[in-house]
Amino acid sequence: MDNPYKMSYHIEPPQGLMNDPNGFIQFKGTYYFFHQWNRFQMDHSYKEWGLFISQDMVHWESRGSALLPDREEDGHGIHSGSSIEHDGKMYLFYTGSKKDNGIRKSHQCIAISENGHTFIKQRECIHTPGGFTEHHRDPKVWRGKDNWWMLVGAQKSDLAGAVALYSSHGLLHWNYERVLYDQDLDQVCECPDLFRLGGETDILVCCPQKRFWTEDASGKREEVSSYASYIPGVFQEERMSFSPAQPRKLLDCGFDFYSPQTFLDDKGRRIMAGWMSRMDDAQEALCPTRDFGYIHCLTLPRVLTWEHGMLHQRPIEEVFGLRHDARAYSEPKGRFSAQNGQFELCLLRKDPHQPLSLSLRSHTVYITYCPKAQILEIGRKNWANGEMQIRKLSLDALSKLQIFSDNSSAEIFVNDGEAVFSMRYFTQEENLQIVYEGLQQGEYLEYFAL
Ligand code: FRU
Repeated sequence: MDNPYKMSYHIEPPQGLMNDPNGFIQFKGTYYFFHQWNRFQMDHSYKEWGLFISQDMVHWESRGSALLPDREEDGHGIHSGSSIEHDGKMYLFYTGSKKDNGIRKSHQCIAISENGHTFIKQRECIHTPGGFTEHHRDPKVWRGKDNWWMLVGAQKSDLAGAVALYSSHGLLHWNYERVLYDQDLDQVCECPDLFRLGGETDILVCCPQKRFWTEDASGKREEVSSYASYIPGVFQEERMSFSPAQPRKLLDCGFDFYSPQTFLDDKGRRIMAGWMSRMDDAQEALCPTRDFGYIHCLTLPRVLTWEHGMLHQRPIEEVFGLRHDARAYSEPKGRFSAQNGQFELCLLRKDPHQPLSLSLRSHTVYITYCPKAQILEIGRKNWANGEMQIRKLSLDALSKLQIFSDNSSAEIFVNDGEAVFSMRYFTQEENLQIVYEGLQQGEYLEYFAL
């Protein structure tokens, strides 16, 4: 059976379940994207690190398993983490998870690779310090002025989310320093990250998570809420402090974006990709790719910059190398068929204060901009119940739209990456119609097959 949802330029697992991106690095010229992987089943009962490699972050080669849960400290799961290069070696930092008789234990563990093929686990590991519960995970390591730093996503003993800071000189032994940040992080902070953009702004990424009970006609059940956010501010190394300069914001305004990770590549680009499948339970249970033995995927890598006090996210330029069969539409309104589900649409507006509407794949996804209300609205058909789900963004002008579709995903970049909406969508293969309205004189809606 042909798989109409299969991605062409996004990473998805050959089988089983994929979640967080892990250990992003460009090592000796090759891009390494590790990821959380249950290669046996399409659920979260088992986790190891899988690996994809690439020369351009658009064409990927699956390398199978990289780290397996086979030690005392990590026997119940190799959870998320990061990697760095030092003295020609790749160092991987991950959370080893253990659960005996329902009691959770977490260790931050280390593996080293000289060749990118074999990853040798080290004996040293971090035990959770006092003041925290065992929800201590997802180490992110980077080089500071005089030492290495590590952030760990945490839960304090009072059951509030926090980001813990560690330091090290030799990468194998780590000192717990302090709580770096703990404002409104729900019950656990997952997948923290910290990096500098544009010379003087530090971006702290936090993914707050909480569990709560809901009740409806079908009874009481526990739900999880989590989202990816960032705070622009200043990290002072000497004082080991983070001072926010702006309120916390969502990293992505769409439906299925979570646990992003960033790295710096050889070109000096700060690149981020996330898990593009943070679905609710019903959507995960009914995800149509289950019929083909796998679920979930990662987003397209994006380049992050800080411009005029704002975070911008743009697709990596390598994706433009996939463009072929360009077409341009200039009628005020129209409809046309995409060749298949892999395409890019681009619209640069002459007048950013005019209304616009656009719908993709026979109205599976739509975008409308209302300049009067200054609202950008994005809708996506929920495959679990057939209803439209809606996200709204307050926007005083719409100057540019760039959309990347890949058979069962859409990533919508607004105003040159001032906002991004990422989502999965599922529709029949033959639903290829694109409908638009609101082009002004001199505006072109460009289409590229990818
Ligand atoms: C986030 C997360 C991480 C954890 C991993 C386990 O999605 O819960 O905190 O390390 O997934 O797969």
